[in-house]
Amino acid sequence: MKIKNICCIGAGYVGGPTMAVIAQKNPGIKVTVVDLNVERIAAWNDTNLDNLPIYEPGLDKVVGEARGRNLFFSTEVDKAIDEAEMVFISVNTPTKTYGVGKGMAADLKYIELCARQIARVSTSNKIIVEKSTLPVRTAQAIKSILDNTGNGAKFQILSNPEFLAEGTAVEDLMAPDRVLIGGEQTPEGLEAIDALVNVYGTWVAKENIITTNLWSSELSKLTANAFLAQRVSSINSLSELCEVTGADVNEVGRAIGKDSRIGPKFLKASVGFGGSCFQKDILNLVYISKSYGLDAVADYWEQVIIMNDHQKHRFAKNIVKTLYNTVSGKKIAFLGWAFKKDTNDTRESAAIYVADILLDEQASIVAYDPKVTAQQMYGDLDYLQTRDTASNKKGLTVVNDPYEALEDAHAIAVLTEWDEFKTYDWQKIYDNMQKPAFVFDGRSVLDKVALEKIGFQVYVIGQ
Ligand code: NAD
Ligand code: UDX
Repeated sequence: MKIKNICCIGAGYVGGPTMAVIAQKNPGIKVTVVDLNVERIAAWNDTNLDNLPIYEPGLDKVVGEARGRNLFFSTEVDKAIDEAEMVFISVNTPTKTYGVGKGMAADLKYIELCARQIARVSTSNKIIVEKSTLPVRTAQAIKSILDNTGNGAKFQILSNPEFLAEGTAVEDLMAPDRVLIGGEQTPEGLEAIDALVNVYGTWVAKENIITTNLWSSELSKLTANAFLAQRVSSINSLSELCEVTGADVNEVGRAIGKDSRIGPKFLKASVGFGGSCFQKDILNLVYISKSYGLDAVADYWEQVIIMNDHQKHRFAKNIVKTLYNTVSGKKIAFLGWAFKKDTNDTRESAAIYVADILLDEQASIVAYDPKVTAQQMYGDLDYLQTRDTASNKKGLTVVNDPYEALEDAHAIAVLTEWDEFKTYDWQKIYDNMQKPAFVFDGRSVLDKVALEKIGFQVYVIGQ
């Protein structure tokens, strides 16, 4: 079966870039990305490509090439679903904030809404592709809704989890380590799998397209994120041990990463992992394990989160301790707010939690991030509900000029590894700071030796 018309529900960090690349690589397929969020769709359609709703290196070029040709962004969800032969569901699946499984389980209400909407509007048979990250066996629930609420159209469900990382989304989509497609092992299921293999096959080598049954595919996505996050928590746990023993976590990471069985990636100690996926997906894994009565499995994975929380707390507490046990009224400059470099995404960013602790200590934070807006930062703090909006506004100032953030500061905290931080005039910064001038590098990006030569007192995570 050759697909000619694709619809993707959800124009977010995954739906937008993924569909842009699919459209660019398949000029013969019409790809329509739909969303309920009118502002987001308007931004995707903005003639100025600098105004796309998400920042990803190289994305403007891909969108610029395909948009209007065979890539469309629209709020007309029903129409796009009905016209398509293949519908991707790429909506958010956040951690539940209410009811059973609160704080652990994935909230599948947006998924269910999509399934009901697809069933309601479909007048022809379709392949439904789970692009969102979902608990294992969700396809069963989607199938039940489609089969029981539809108009007689037939549906095949595929699981096609996305492995892109933000900040490198376009690069990852263009040359994925693998594409994973799970489906029913029946003639119709295998035919659906084949149709999706052909969509990716225009640019991904066939041997890098893995096909499995549905449940293996669903569970592999949670597993991949759990393993990646576990590596970060493992190296972060050792960063604390390095600090008390005189070992250097970067040297330890390099030494163990040379072992081909361990590998060099994802061994960078940090102030803690953030992002919309790791915490949510591990909590979900813990919840699923518990729901099957597998308490030892659940406890094992929960420790990855516990270590990550510990890392964020200990970074903030170290700032307070070093600044003579009080930061009350002191200006602390934040370099970076995004959860990693090259993205404007701040979901679960360590910066938010470090700021929250320092605000509790009555610090006066001045933050600069090259891509994150003031509105986003205030929204992140308000979301925690630790204090009211006015208090967050009073405690946090957001500036567009890094030198303004750093002037007169008692301490600098590096929360994101943006490359531009390395290029600053650090002598000038030192001259304009309070003394002693403290730097807390939560990302190990600055040149410690050069900074110490200037006169800074430098703390680097894991050293
Ligand atoms: P997002 O919040 O950026 O985007 C989701 C979009 O879906 C939103 O714009 C929302 O308005 C829209 N939406 C929700 N319900 C809708 C409905 N019923 N109809 C139309 N639109 C609707 O989320 P995201 O970061 O793109 O993540 C989407 C999924 O992909 C999640 O399951 C996530 O776990 C997974 N994932 C994310 C990443 C990542 O790096 N962000 C990577 C891999 C997988
Ligand atoms: C992650 C997965 O990598 C990706 O495959 C999946 O599809 C979505 O979740 P993402 O969250 O976008 O991607 O970014 P990632 O590069 O994995 O970084 C996650 C967090 O871990 C960031 O806060 C990052 O700074 C941190 N990290 C990563 C470290 O602290 N050290 C490392 O060595 C690697």
